[in-house]
Amino acid sequence: MQTAGGPPPPSLGRDAAMQYAAWFRALAEPTRIEIVSLLARRQEPMTVGQIVGAAHVGQSTVSQHLKVLAEVRFVLVERRGTAHYYRLNEACVDGFPTAADLVVGNHPPAPAGLSQPACDPPANRPAPAGGAGGIAIRPMEPADAGQVLAIYQAGLDTGQASFETQAPSWEEFDAGKLPGHRHVAVAADSGAVLGWAAVSAVSGRCVYAGVVEHSVYVDPASQRRGSGFTLLRALIGSTEAAGIWTIQSGIFPENSASLRLHERAGFRAVGIRKRIGRHHGRWRDVVLMERRSPVTGQD
Ligand SMILES: CC(C)(COP(=O)(O)OP(=O)(O)OC[C@H]1O[C@@H](n2cnc3c(N)ncnc32)[C@H](O)[C@@H]1OP(=O)(O)O)[C@@H](O)C(=O)NCCC(=O)NCCS
Repeated sequence: MQTAGGPPPPSLGRDAAMQYAAWFRALAEPTRIEIVSLLARRQEPMTVGQIVGAAHVGQSTVSQHLKVLAEVRFVLVERRGTAHYYRLNEACVDGFPTAADLVVGNHPPAPAGLSQPACDPPANRPAPAGGAGGIAIRPMEPADAGQVLAIYQAGLDTGQASFETQAPSWEEFDAGKLPGHRHVAVAADSGAVLGWAAVSAVSGRCVYAGVVEHSVYVDPASQRRGSGFTLLRALIGSTEAAGIWTIQSGIFPENSASLRLHERAGFRAVGIRKRIGRHHGRWRDVVLMERRSPVTGQD
């Protein structure tokens, strides 16, 4: 329960209550708890057959339970060739302790801390560049400017990351990004910057004070090793702790890596903004992706 003298825990809004109730409902069955626990321990996607083998339950029972878990997005399904693989939705895993704490009036656990070691990459991924060590997240410093802007430019050079074509100067970058929500992912052993995430305000109007637009860029040599996901988790943690309730980004439909990354991190596609801007002489669509916090910005 709430400790005496501390600030009261955030109140639970109706939307969050409904979401948490759906999670608890989906988990209110022992075999589903066992399946979630199995997927959590394996840390890699599993087929129905693999789950059946490990859980000693019939295939149709497992399929039914997976359907319920997938409906509330506690479990995500992806297709590889003709096989379907199931894995835990890490955004739900992160949110679950928060849900349990808030329901019983406790303070939620601290968000993924800056300067704290971030999650080790899942066992099925190669180790990040720089050695066998993991990835760490820390606040971006002016001394990171060179590496941050080089990674930015490499992303822009793909032609799929932004309408921008040229990375700004550090002074412009620094002036446009909100303090407190600029994170870098670094190789834990060498300290090399692997990627960064930062946010800008979307509007000067009070009503949108809790809405920001973010960018996330990972060094091409270090992609697909968990940096982008870890950076988004840090960003979600720092923004929620600061009372920001919505993070959004416009993503080109062709940027499937970014769309998948954001979906995995709990963002949803609001819609496609058709022919919203010109890029290298052609009109391009943008998918507006957003994550509405279930804990911040509730009444
Ligand atoms: C998009 C980007 C930030 C992803 O960073 P990353 O460190 O490679 O991403 P992660 O390793 O954390 O991947 C997390 C998930 O994102 C998805 N993903 C990442 N890269 C992907 C790719 N090339 N294809 C398909 N899915 C991909 C996967 O679901 C992945 O999880 P998995 O590896 O368990 O399947 C990176 O590709 C990048 O910097 N691109 C250029 C700049 C850019 O486009 N930025 C986004 C602007 S909107």
